[in-house]
Amino acid sequence: MAEQYIVVVAGVIASLLGFVFLYYNSLDGRQVLVIERNLNAPNRIAGENLLPGGYLKLIELGLQDEIDAQRILGYILYKDGKNVLVSFPLEKFQPHVAGRNFHNGHFFQKLQKKAASLHNVNLEQGTVISLLEENGIVKGVHYKNKSGQMLTAYAPLTIVCNGCFSNLRRSLCYPKVDIPSYTVGVILTNCKLPNENYGALILADPSPVLFYPISSTEIRCLVNIPSEIVPSVSNGEMAHFLKTLVAPKVLPELYNSFIFAIEKKDNIRTMPNKIMAAAPHPTPGAILIGDAFNMRHGITGGGMTVALSDVVILRDLLRPLHDLSDASAICKYLESFYTLRKPMSSTINILANVLQKVFSASSNPAMENLQQTFLEYLRLGGVFSYGISAIKLSISFLFHCIIWRWPIVTSISFSQTLVGWG
Ligand SMILES: Cc1cc2nc3c(=O)[nH]c(=O)nc-3n(C[C@H](O)[C@H](O)[C@H](O)COP(=O)(O)OP(=O)(O)OC[C@H]3O[C@@H](n4cnc5c(N)ncnc54)[C@H](O)[C@@H]3O)c2cc1C
Ligand SMILES: *[C@@H]1O[C@H](CO)[C@@H](O)[C@H](O)[C@H]1NC(C)=O
Repeated sequence: MAEQYIVVVAGVIASLLGFVFLYYNSLDGRQVLVIERNLNAPNRIAGENLLPGGYLKLIELGLQDEIDAQRILGYILYKDGKNVLVSFPLEKFQPHVAGRNFHNGHFFQKLQKKAASLHNVNLEQGTVISLLEENGIVKGVHYKNKSGQMLTAYAPLTIVCNGCFSNLRRSLCYPKVDIPSYTVGVILTNCKLPNENYGALILADPSPVLFYPISSTEIRCLVNIPSEIVPSVSNGEMAHFLKTLVAPKVLPELYNSFIFAIEKKDNIRTMPNKIMAAAPHPTPGAILIGDAFNMRHGITGGGMTVALSDVVILRDLLRPLHDLSDASAICKYLESFYTLRKPMSSTINILANVLQKVFSASSNPAMENLQQTFLEYLRLGGVFSYGISAIKLSISFLFHCIIWRWPIVTSISFSQTLVGWG
């Protein structure tokens, strides 16, 4: 067997990495082993929107053809019968650049297929049980293959990207996970959004509700519910909550489909919204990326954009290296990854975590004030709404918040947490 250079554990990002390494290193015969627990298309409610910035990263990776998707140009925010349209600032880009929405499972499988089609990527179904560590250096992984056999894969570099529930991150970072809310998802059919290229976000008490297309016939609905009040799905309380408290707030043209979707058996899905600041513990022989390393609230749909941006940075750092055998030297060299990723990750993370507070503010009169201010701010249009929708391009909203609205902003005390969220 040819020498294995890199073992990648799992995920959307992992199959991408498999592709990327092959593409740039095929001449020196580098082998990449990708171990993924489940090669079937996952049925998830997370990772269905790729921001325009994430789409640009796919282009940098040469993988833009791997999505077939709905084009999204921005969002319409609704509150108390009024609305404001927020477009992504795309004028400077070619017409195909936009947000993209899709079934996460379809996207995932297309990327995996692409990776697996390359001759020195070995995509294997298996579950990684632990990292193989010797004297503080990661030498590979212990994993169970599809038939349940325990195996060991050795490599000078192991890239761990096994997502938000990672069982492998403990020795590679200082994980401090916060779960402020849960997202509840259903799929609506037989209805249309007011504007098919715009998502709709309804700022309502008790929960903000988000709608966006994921195919030409399906609209995803996500409801964000604070952790303290999440009803149980299994005993029917969730359906009751959605029907009595959320349904009256949804757009009239979506109402019937919304009720139908809640009543459909086994249709309601939930997912924790996890927040975890990037706190690396650089370890020779391994690097952690994706949600395993850093998480922000899901409401702005920025996770894959951060992860894809990290893949591009890591690719560029690894590209000139031809020898990975000195694990300590490589580890030292890769420390610049944490600095290079900051402009993108901090911007998206901070904005996501602030916006989830703003969007969830409706049930508290003081916070409601903040939400109104935010909408008025967006109504100013131009640079003001662009700053927010650009997310990955600009931190102008935050900047303006800090300059203009400091007293309000500090009332949600994000100033103290700002630093930690990066
Ligand atoms: C409610 C919600 C909505 C979201 N919506 C969006 C959105 O619209 N847009 C967006 O960009 N981001 C969104 N996100 C975030 C996004 O889902 C993540 O940032 C992204 O999926 C991270 O990619 P990843 O490859 O790190 O992890 P994942 O996509 O979670 O992949 C991890 C993979 O690892 C595999 N795995 C796990 N453990 C093992 C193991 N031990 N061995 C082998 N394989 C293993 C799993 O099978 C899985 O395939 C959302 C998050 C939430 C919670
Ligand atoms: C799992 O590994 C064992 C031992 O190497 C091998 O015999 C078996 O075929 C493998 N199973 C799969 C599904 O690859």
